[in-house]
Amino acid sequence: MANNPILIAVTGASGALYSLRLIEMLLKSDRSVDLLLSDPARVVIKQECGLELQGDGESVVKAVLAFLKLPAIDSLDNIKSKRLQHFALKDWISPVASGSGGGRDMVICPCSMGTLARVRHGISENLIERGADVTIKEQGRLIMVPRESPFSPIHLENMLALSRLGVIMLPAAPGFYNRPQTVAELIDFIVGRILDRLEITHDLNPAWPNIAKV
Ligand SMILES: Cc1cc2nc3c(=O)[nH]c(=O)nc-3n(C[C@H](O)[C@H](O)[C@H](O)COP(=O)(O)O)c2cc1C
Repeated sequence: MANNPILIAVTGASGALYSLRLIEMLLKSDRSVDLLLSDPARVVIKQECGLELQGDGESVVKAVLAFLKLPAIDSLDNIKSKRLQHFALKDWISPVASGSGGGRDMVICPCSMGTLARVRHGISENLIERGADVTIKEQGRLIMVPRESPFSPIHLENMLALSRLGVIMLPAAPGFYNRPQTVAELIDFIVGRILDRLEITHDLNPAWPNIAKV
């Protein structure tokens, strides 16, 4: 799994900053990232971050890297281990669409209730849903970061069904026991949890015993 890029799918739930910070941390950890965006995700990213993502492929990559204040794609391209690629949602010949290239880790962050429902039912009408379907069938690691409030029985049943299949349900629900002072700290709480699950070393979360010293 470690050789394949990590697949990050951003859907139209609130919490776009989680995904952008996650991408930043993965690239800084020398991991390659394949990025998928639903159309509602683009709306939410613009609303929440002021970041307008238009078109597909390189234009998205350039805009994301500029937002994250990371080097442009040309320089990143030279360092093979640090690559960000974006695929259009209907790019059915991309490696994301098939399990034949080997297993990979996938994170849907944030995950809307719509995408949650479609993944639960195996509806593979776009590359996000297909990527999740492939990850489940290949028994790869799929992490979902659902966000809605309150959850309806439909949402909860969908989460339970996927959890029973081995999907990791990691809700966008940061803890407050570290007495966070900034939004960035709240974001990092969740991103740290995701990185833990991906077994990627990071220093975003204070270790549990430090709590006593707060
Ligand atoms: C600003 C904004 C915030 C939204 N927040 C959520 C949310 O937190 N959870 C959710 O399930 N849907 C949310 N939605 C609605 C989804 O974007 C909508 O259901 C969409 O169809 C999801 O499509 P997708 O799963 O293809 O991204 C939000 C929409 C907007 C515009």
